Amino acid sequence: MQFCNLKQQYTELKDGIDANIAKVLEHGLYIGGPEVTELEKKCAEFVGVKYAKACSSGTDALLLALMAYDVQPGDYIVTTPFTFIATAEVISLVKAVPLFVDIDEKTYNICPDKLKKFLKNPPVDSKKIKGVITVDLYGQSADYDGIRDAMKGHDLFLIQDAAQSFGGAYKGANLCSQGDIGCTSFFPAKPFGCYGDGGMVFTNDDNLDERLGWLRNHGQNVRYSHKIIGINGRLDTIQAAIMLGKFDRFVNYEIKKRNDVALAYIKGLKKVADQGKITLPYIMPDSRHIWAQFTVLAEDRDGLMAHLSSKGVPSAIHYPIPLHLQEAFAEFKGKEGDYPVSEKISKNVMSFPMCAYKTDAEIEEVCAAVAEFYA
Ligand SMILES: Cc1ncc(COP(=O)(O)O)c(C=O)c1O
Repeated sequence: MQFCNLKQQYTELKDGIDANIAKVLEHGLYIGGPEVTELEKKCAEFVGVKYAKACSSGTDALLLALMAYDVQPGDYIVTTPFTFIATAEVISLVKAVPLFVDIDEKTYNICPDKLKKFLKNPPVDSKKIKGVITVDLYGQSADYDGIRDAMKGHDLFLIQDAAQSFGGAYKGANLCSQGDIGCTSFFPAKPFGCYGDGGMVFTNDDNLDERLGWLRNHGQNVRYSHKIIGINGRLDTIQAAIMLGKFDRFVNYEIKKRNDVALAYIKGLKKVADQGKITLPYIMPDSRHIWAQFTVLAEDRDGLMAHLSSKGVPSAIHYPIPLHLQEAFAEFKGKEGDYPVSEKISKNVMSFPMCAYKTDAEIEEVCAAVAEFYA
C-alpha cells in the first residue's frame, strides 16, 4: 500500500494535465508563463483574497512573507514548536529568532490562551517582537478568533502557515485567508499538490503583494532593474499547468473525498479508540478539516508502526521532535520540559495513509491491522 495514491490521481486526470503541459511546451514560457497567472487568479478567488503569488515552495512562501515585512536580524517571531521545521527555519534564515508558545491539547495548534499570556509578559524586549506565525497542523485551522484576540493591542503581523491546510476552512472562510499573509505548499503529498515543489502566498494588502512579486523574482520590478534583494522563488510554468489540470477536481471532489476518507477511518478505528488504545483526531467545530494527515495518538506507537509495516501498511510520525529540541536550534537552549504539551504529543502521534484516492478496501485493511495489533 502507498501512503498517498498520486498515481491514481494522475491516471484519472491524465488527459487534462497532459494537454496543459503540451501547451507550455508549445509556447515555451517555462518561467512566468500565462498558466502561473491563471493559477494565481483561481487560487485567490477560491481563498477569497485579493492577491496570490505562486512561488517555488511552501518554505519559500514563508521566507518571502518574512522578507516582505523586512524582518531584521535580532527581531523575534512567535510560533509553535510542534510543526515541520520550515515554519521556524525561515525565521532563522532571516537571522531573526523564533520564540515558541506551546500548543493546545486537543488541536495541537498554537494555544491562544498561552499566546495571550506570552504577549502580555514576553521574556524579551516586546518592541523587537514583530509577528506571529500560526500553523494549521494536519490541515485543521488554528483558532483564529482566539489568536487575533491574543494579538489585540500588540503591533504584530500574522503570517498563516497554511502549508497543510489549503482547502480547509475556518468559520466559512477558506484557509490561507486568516493572516496578513497566508502561505501554502504545493508539495506533491499536500492536499493540493503539484508534481514537484511549489507554493503560494496570499494577501489582501496592495503593498505586500507588490513586494512579494518583486521578492520572488530577485527583487526585480522592471526587467534587470532590481529594487530590493530577493530570491529565485518562482513556480515553474509546467507545475502551474499541472495544477490547473487538477484544480476543479480538488475543489469539487477531493476536498469532500478527503473528509470521507477521514470519517471512514474514524468509524473503522472507533473500537480501538473506545478501548483507549488510540486517541482519534479532534475536529474543531465551525471548521473544515482538509486532512493533510490523519494523525492519532497511539499507545505503544513503535510497536504499532512495526506491526503495520510487517503488513505492508506505511505510517509516519508528524513530528517526532518538537522544534525547541532540534539540534539545528540548539543555540536557543531549549530543553525538555519547556513546552510540555508539544513534547507529550510528539511521543505518541502517528499518521495513517491518507489521500483522496484511498479506497474503502485500503482503509479497512489499515483499521483491521490496527485492531489486530491491540487485540
Ligand atoms: C507546516 C509546514 N510548513 C511549511 C512547509 C514547507 O513546505 P515545502 O515543503 O513546500 O517547502 C511544510 C511542508 O511539509 C509544512 O508542513
